[in-house]
Amino acid sequence: MQALHGRSILVTGASSGIGAATARLLAGAGARITLLARRPDRLRQVAADCPDSKVIAADVGDWPAIERACADAAYDAVIANAGLARGVDPLQSGVPAEWSEVVDTNIKGVLHVIRATLPGMQARGRGDLVLLGSVAGRQVYPGGGVYCATKHAVRALYEGLRLDDPGSGVRYATIDPGLVRTEFGLVRFRGDADKAYAPYKGIQPLEPEDVADAILWVLTRPPHVNVGELVLWSTAQASTTKVHRKS
Ligand SMILES: NC(=O)c1ccc[n+]([C@@H]2O[C@H](COP(=O)([O-])OP(=O)(O)OC[C@H]3O[C@@H](n4cnc5c(N)ncnc54)[C@H](OP(=O)(O)O)[C@@H]3O)[C@@H](O)[C@H]2O)c1
Repeated sequence: MQALHGRSILVTGASSGIGAATARLLAGAGARITLLARRPDRLRQVAADCPDSKVIAADVGDWPAIERACADAAYDAVIANAGLARGVDPLQSGVPAEWSEVVDTNIKGVLHVIRATLPGMQARGRGDLVLLGSVAGRQVYPGGGVYCATKHAVRALYEGLRLDDPGSGVRYATIDPGLVRTEFGLVRFRGDADKAYAPYKGIQPLEPEDVADAILWVLTRPPHVNVGELVLWSTAQASTTKVHRKS
């Protein structure tokens, strides 16, 4: 097991949900965390629980901002977690501006973070690049076409990274959870709490801390062990369309 003590780790989407839980857990294990998201107030709240941390308020879809923010950084690990969904409209009546937002964040945002941080890790001959995929990158569900397409793309990027860089010493992983209780639904349904929390009714979903725990495990394997793809389901969830609920 490798210690995290003193390692410098960038967590995108650290202002809430999985990213916030990951920042807190990795900081508790001794890592120095850089927390990145768009809302500085929420970032500062999470950073208060992370000793020796810093915050960057930026949009992952904004390449110049991400390039600038990462220019002088030397990260030992990067958790590319920022992501979102908008609505559940069928494709024939979807909203193009929402598609752009989801694609810009979930695909281009991940690409920007990779481009800004990977060359440094490769040059240093070590590092971890962990992408937050989803079971939506493996299965599609009704009304989820665009979001699922972006998470399939994340999986393709993960595979591309492995093929493009077999020898530098950097490890690549995609963590693919099912239902996790976060603010994801509130963002997807623009604050409609009834719709946002309906997927969690009658089940024990994954908690953000469960995903953070998996990320900690991935980062602390010995250097010759690259955990590649990790799929995490709630015990009650059989697929993206089948969930066993207690009535
Ligand atoms: N919840 C689930 O069931 C689930 C399941 C599988 C995978 N995932 C994935 O897990 C990741 C984290 O989601 P979550 O569930 O923790 O949702 P969340 O609580 O809504 O957190 C999303 C995070 O991403 C940040 N973010 C969104 N757009 C951004 C942008 N353009 N630039 C920078 N940061 C941005 C948000 O911060 P700001 O708004 O402050 O920018 C927030 O910190 C996402 O990639 C999501 O697709 C979630």
